[in-house]
Amino acid sequence: MNRKRFLETIIGASAFASLPYSAIANDPLAARHLLKEVEKSADGSMVGFAAEPIAKVRIGIIGMGNRGSSLLEMLQLMIENGSAEIAAFADINPEKLTKATEKLNQWQKSKPKIYGKTERDWENLVKQDDVDLVLVTTPWEWHTEMALFAMNNGKHVATEVPMSYSMSDCWEIIATAERTKKHCIMLENCCYNEEELFVLKMIEDGVFGDITHCEGAYLHDLRAHMLDDTYYENQWRIMHHVARDGNLYTTHGLGPISFYLGIGNGDRFEYLTSMSSRELNLSQTAQRMGKDFGKIVCGDMNSTMMKTNKGKTVLLQFDTHTGRPYSRINKVVGTKAVHDGYPSRLFIDSEEPVFWGHKWLDEEGYSSYKKKHVHPVIGRLKEVSQSFKQGHGGMDFIMMFRLIECLNKGLPLDINVYESVIWSAVTPLSVLSVASDSLPLPFPKFTGDAWKKNEAKWVESK
Ligand SMILES: NC(=O)c1ccc[n+]([C@@H]2O[C@H](COP(=O)([O-])OP(=O)(O)OC[C@H]3O[C@@H](n4cnc5c(N)ncnc54)[C@H](O)[C@@H]3O)[C@@H](O)[C@H]2O)c1
Repeated sequence: MNRKRFLETIIGASAFASLPYSAIANDPLAARHLLKEVEKSADGSMVGFAAEPIAKVRIGIIGMGNRGSSLLEMLQLMIENGSAEIAAFADINPEKLTKATEKLNQWQKSKPKIYGKTERDWENLVKQDDVDLVLVTTPWEWHTEMALFAMNNGKHVATEVPMSYSMSDCWEIIATAERTKKHCIMLENCCYNEEELFVLKMIEDGVFGDITHCEGAYLHDLRAHMLDDTYYENQWRIMHHVARDGNLYTTHGLGPISFYLGIGNGDRFEYLTSMSSRELNLSQTAQRMGKDFGKIVCGDMNSTMMKTNKGKTVLLQFDTHTGRPYSRINKVVGTKAVHDGYPSRLFIDSEEPVFWGHKWLDEEGYSSYKKKHVHPVIGRLKEVSQSFKQGHGGMDFIMMFRLIECLNKGLPLDINVYESVIWSAVTPLSVLSVASDSLPLPFPKFTGDAWKKNEAKWVESK
């Protein structure tokens, strides 16, 4: 029964509706059967979707913790120039509501409504008539429920990463977006980072030739934050490491890579396999600090591999337990060039194979590529992002600017609901694969057949 409950949290309780657990209890391929049970069909209608323009986007933010307050700062410029307005805040912690209101008072005359009486008071924020966009910056386990409620109440929604938690969440999000025709975007800020957009532009300009392989990651020592009593509200983050073993934070590495590979836009992931190392670093640190959270099940290092329809491979890694410098790896391997991140380096292959001198470009060579292949979004917005609120070096501001700009102008958003779900689905799929001896699992067709066509991306005007 414990295994059944575990599978329900990863896949969704509906997986067992027509398939009794006893029928698959001892089946090594159980995970594959269960994935089929929750599968729905997608019509792909939200690819390239654009809503009616909204002259001033009225925003309700749920969750005013670390991220909610930082994204609020990113909106200052758009609030001051009249393209956005904060209509409401919700949080269960009254201090955080007070701080957010004080901050907003400096830039906005009208007062936001405040919701925080109960854990479900956010529903009243969503129902408020003068809200166009709901911004969800709460702990992971809330994102899907809040996004579904927003769309079902006629609101566009933008969630923090990841968007969904179980496989049935993924399908529910897509079905609801397609039915309600509301935007549902996951705010994957690393897609807006200068290095990732430079690599994307080089790919579009043919520098890499044909791509064969990419690597990405979230390697970020979060022990200090996760073990701190107050950094995360009710220490929600470490609880996920007690509950699940897999890649729990996929999207910072995978979002940009999916753009490089045209995932959902000419190519698709076909299958995935995942393996986790043993866990040592987080529990040993917790023990040294005299803290006990129960058994930490998430391995220190998770490695997940995916293969695409066109034969490209992806290695995605996750480690928030080990002390080491931050990295998203950001590796791209092509027939003409290779890029590695952290620090950013570029290798350009020669026409004929050489037996010596496989060297990265020197500083001058690298800079000449950087100057030549500037992504239009960076070209237009870098200066303002650097002189204004930076937010992770500028990418957070650019992301929020683009979100409001696209809604103002009635343009398709840079990241659609299918991409948001595909990048998030790697968490439950990796957990399922890890729990099934790294069983390869088919990647659901979240876009239906729409992945076969090419969507115009990063649209700046109609
Ligand atoms: N993209 C990025 O670079 C980035 C950076 C940090 C965090 N995040 C994401 O942002 C989200 C929040 O992380 P955080 O660090 O801000 O955590 P946090 O704990 O600081 O903030 C979460 C907030 O949600 C509130 N909350 C919880 N349940 C609620 C409910 N039912 N109703 C209303 N409010 C509720 C909490 O009180 C808290 O203030 C996570 O999904 C995280 O992954 C993303």
